Amino acid sequence: MCWKSVLERVRAGRLPDHVAVVMDGNGRWAKARRLSRVEGHRRGAEAAERLIRLAAGERVCRHLTLFAFSTENWDRPPEEVDFLLRLLEEFIAQKVDELAAAGVRLDVLGERERFPERLSAEVSRVEELTRRNEGLQVHVALSFGGRWAVVEAVRSAVRAAQERGLQAERVDEDVVHGLMPTAALPDVDLMIRTAGEQRLSNFLLWEAAYAELYFTPVLWPDFDEAAFLEAVVSYQGRQRSFGGVRP
Ligand code: FPP
Repeated sequence: MCWKSVLERVRAGRLPDHVAVVMDGNGRWAKARRLSRVEGHRRGAEAAERLIRLAAGERVCRHLTLFAFSTENWDRPPEEVDFLLRLLEEFIAQKVDELAAAGVRLDVLGERERFPERLSAEVSRVEELTRRNEGLQVHVALSFGGRWAVVEAVRSAVRAAQERGLQAERVDEDVVHGLMPTAALPDVDLMIRTAGEQRLSNFLLWEAAYAELYFTPVLWPDFDEAAFLEAVVSYQGRQRSFGGVRP
């Protein structure tokens, strides 16, 4: 069945506000074709672009967060780390005009002080350029970890206690969320992970508290429009009670 007919059905149902994706399986995709791992990442970038175009063009969700590079990914061989960071820099630089024209707002979540200087400058430029756009908000998680985000919030809380007398009794979930580097993100509605693994791998731990989880064996470079819409159809079939009583 053509994905456009599925899209019609999807649009008639409850759409997720925030979709987050662990893009896994680039290496396995390449290995199965006797290609280099970097070729897998290159094809992975194309899959990311395809998803952004669909989500932006068809207004499937308002927020899309892509796990592009984790705090743990720094432990990969240096050539692969360099390649990935360059790929992300090129992606951001080359695609931004087109994405901006489609109303996309793009920002990056993660440990910016670890970025190479050129990447850091490119990220700032693109964030500024798309800041006022009101279409799809794409958050690229880069040198990101869910635990890092919690640690950052605790650091901010300690600073707020020292500098402006924040009292322990005043700290609640809203305060913590407001102090996190992910404060601009709403809770995740749908968390997708490709390539058959079934774990969160230190992604959006706080924001995924009530996310509907969707795991697929499809390897990330093969994750196309039909595969994404299948995930949304699965989400639409879930009963969400957020710990309360089902209606
Ligand atoms: C996991 O595959 C993928 C990554 C660590 C990198 C994800 C990055 C991209 C898809 C590049 C483009 C992203 C954007 C936003 C442009 P893996 O290498 O862990 O695969 P494997 O588990 O099969 O080895």
